[in-house]
Amino acid sequence: MSIRIAVTGKHGQVARALTEAGPLLDAVVIPLSRPELDLEAPETIEPALRRAAPDIVVNAAAYTAVDQAEGEPQKAIAINATGAGAVAAAARALAVPVIQLSTDYVFDGSKTSAYVEEDRVAPFSAYGVSKLAGEHAVAAANGEHVILRTAWVYAPFGKNFVRTMLALAQSRDEVRVVADQHGCPTYAPEIAVAIIGVARNILSNRSEPLLRGIFHLAGNGETSWAHLAAAIFAFLAKQGLRKPVLTPITSAEYPTPARRPANSRLDCGKLARVHGIKLPFWHDSLGICLERLTKKPNPEE
Ligand SMILES: NC(=O)c1ccc[n+]([C@@H]2O[C@H](COP(=O)([O-])OP(=O)(O)OC[C@H]3O[C@@H](n4cnc5c(N)ncnc54)[C@H](OP(=O)(O)O)[C@@H]3O)[C@@H](O)[C@H]2O)c1
Repeated sequence: MSIRIAVTGKHGQVARALTEAGPLLDAVVIPLSRPELDLEAPETIEPALRRAAPDIVVNAAAYTAVDQAEGEPQKAIAINATGAGAVAAAARALAVPVIQLSTDYVFDGSKTSAYVEEDRVAPFSAYGVSKLAGEHAVAAANGEHVILRTAWVYAPFGKNFVRTMLALAQSRDEVRVVADQHGCPTYAPEIAVAIIGVARNILSNRSEPLLRGIFHLAGNGETSWAHLAAAIFAFLAKQGLRKPVLTPITSAEYPTPARRPANSRLDCGKLARVHGIKLPFWHDSLGICLERLTKKPNPEE
């Protein structure tokens, strides 16, 4: 059965990946963005979604500049909390469910193992605070909601760590990367496939409350930023491409406006049990992304 998915944040990593995946998975994806749909202009939201006539709405738009958010927390709240709530309310007005993307940065990182959905949330960055407020706003506005907390997102496009490392590998002899933050790299095209799977599940059984609520959705396994960089540079070396020297450093040696959790590993067992969805091992997904990014254009294509 073909389904219609309206997704906000048209130019973002997750929305672009969803738009690519849709036709392959019998889903019509309608990407929406500013000025047609602006999370800071709530009056634009319901009319834009109504025109899209979706079976389900995915809110992938967000204020994602984690460090910048420390300087403009109200803007982060307006987009990530008030805006997200308005998207969920508009979906409710259309009598359709909403899938909201959230983040591992709702946790403070003090746990020594991977976080489950019921763990205490205690964000300490303005971004994390705004995304947690978004979870609450979405849940309050639309009973038919799924909140997918993801982490360390990367794609062959957009702004992300993998593309930054590839660019630095071209221009620098040495790259310093923090080694004391641990998490789960997540490949946006796999988030997209998972979103379509979750959407199908909730649309085919709308009276089942167990399918709704908060779920963790991240690449399988765990790593540190430095180890992730090492895996990227090892790939480059194997391809005979230039790679820099990698120097692992501590977070204290790389101060940023926003403090990040030392541990934001996500336990994704609930998503597997309830929705039957489990993402591949992060290292395999990274290889797929790097193949795509480093592939020489085929002159016959
Ligand atoms: N990236 C990560 O590592 C990460 C980790 C955990 C969770 N998440 C969550 O996953 C979701 C998707 O992230 P992503 O990496 O795909 O984000 P992204 O690439 O930064 O894209 C976010 C999109 O939101 C759009 N946007 C920003 N303000 C808007 C507004 N007022 N109205 C409408 N659109 C607006 C941006 O538009 P412009 O392109 O025009 O600026 C951008 O295209 C977000 O909810 C994010 O919080 C991301």
